[in-house]
Amino acid sequence: MEFTHRFAARAVIGLAMPLLSIGGLHAHGDETSGANAGHEAHGRAHSVTAHMPSAHDDRPGATVPNARWGKDYFPNIPLIDQDGRKLNFFDDLIKDKVVAINFIFTSCSDSCPLETARLREVTRILGDRVGRDVFFYSISIDPKNDTPEVLKAYTEQYGIGSGWLFLTGNEDDIVLLRRRLGLYLEDIAKDSTDHNLNLIIGNQRTGRWQKSSPFENPYILATQLGSWLHNWKLASAKKNSYDEAPKLRKMSRGEQLFRTRCSSCHNIGADPDSMAAMRQLAPDLLGVTKRRERAWLERWLREPDQMLAEKDPIATALLAEYNNLTMPNFRLGPVEIQALLEYLDEEGDRMLDKHASKN
Ligand code: HEC
Repeated sequence: MEFTHRFAARAVIGLAMPLLSIGGLHAHGDETSGANAGHEAHGRAHSVTAHMPSAHDDRPGATVPNARWGKDYFPNIPLIDQDGRKLNFFDDLIKDKVVAINFIFTSCSDSCPLETARLREVTRILGDRVGRDVFFYSISIDPKNDTPEVLKAYTEQYGIGSGWLFLTGNEDDIVLLRRRLGLYLEDIAKDSTDHNLNLIIGNQRTGRWQKSSPFENPYILATQLGSWLHNWKLASAKKNSYDEAPKLRKMSRGEQLFRTRCSSCHNIGADPDSMAAMRQLAPDLLGVTKRRERAWLERWLREPDQMLAEKDPIATALLAEYNNLTMPNFRLGPVEIQALLEYLDEEGDRMLDKHASKN
C-alpha cells in the first residue's frame, strides 16, 4: 500500500472545528521545533489559530462552558482497542478528558512510523500521566486489516505501554469521526489508505481543541497536553525531563532535519544509561558515516523501503536486530541527504571528542 504525501493539499484544509489556542504556545516555527522542510507549510498552516465565535474566557484557569462540542457533535461510535476491549468514542474515550488523537494504519511504510515514534516520545516525556490525565488514541483508517491482534503486535513492536490505545472499528464510523475531527479530505478519501497526518489535541470539558503536527517538537506537544490543556493546574510528574529539551540556537539544515525527522528513533552517541538511549527505537548513528559506504548511506536515506524489499544484506540484518521495525522513506532529495550525512559526520566527531576528553 502506497501512501503519498500531500503537503500542498493539507496546507489548505479547512477545519471542521474552530481551533482555540493562546499566543504563547505557538512556537511552531521556532528554532527548537526545528522548522521542517516538507512539513513546514503544513505545520505552519495549522498554527493559524481561530477563536470560537461565542465569547469565552481564555485566561489560564478559566472554565469554558462547552455546550457546543459535546455528545451531539462527537459521534459516540463503538471502537475496539488492541486488547479487545469495546469502547464508545464519546463516553469512554474523550468525555471530560485531555486527549491526543491521530489516525494511522499499521502497514503504512513512510509517515506513520515517524508519527508513532514521535508520539511515543511525547508519552515518554509525560510519563505516568499517560492513561491517567492525558489520553492517547491512534485510530486505524484501515480497519479491515488492522484487527485488534494486528494493533497489539504493532504496539509491541514500538514498545508502547498500556496508557495509549490503538483502536479499530467500523470503516464508515471511522470516516464519520475523521470528518467531525476535521481530519478528512474528500478528494483523497477514495483510497482508504491515504490520510493526512494531523494530530488533534484537546480538552473535551473546556472545549479547547487544536490541530497539531506530529512533527512538532515533542517537548512542546508534551507541554501543550500536560499543562496548557489542563489550564496549568497540574504540575508535571516528571519535571526534569523538560530540561532535556534542546536549547534555542541556530541549527544547520542537517541538524534541523535530524531533529524533526530522525531523532524520535535515533540518537548519535547517547550515553547508554540515559533516558535518550532507553527511548531509542533504532541504531545509534554514532560513527555510521565511517562504518558504512557513502553510496550505501545515500541510497538508504533515499529509499530504505526499496533496499529492504531487495533484501540488502546490511539492511536485512538491522531489520532483524530492531524488532522488524522499518525505517520510513522520507522522500528526501539529494540536497537534504547531503545535509544529513554532513551533520551525522560532524556530530559523530563531536561526540567522539567529547567521550575521548572524558576518559
Ligand atoms: C520510525 C523510526 C525511524 C526514523 C524516524 C528514522 N529511522 Fe533510521 N532506522 C530505523 C531502523 C529501525 C533502522 C534499522 C534498519 C531497519 O530496521 O529498517 C534504521 C537504520 C538507519 C541507518 C543505518 C544504521 C546503520 O547502523 O547502518 C541510518 C544511517 C539511518 N537509519 C538514518 C536515519 C536518518 C538520517 C533518519 C532521519 C531522516 C532516520 N534514520 C529516521 C528507524 C528509523
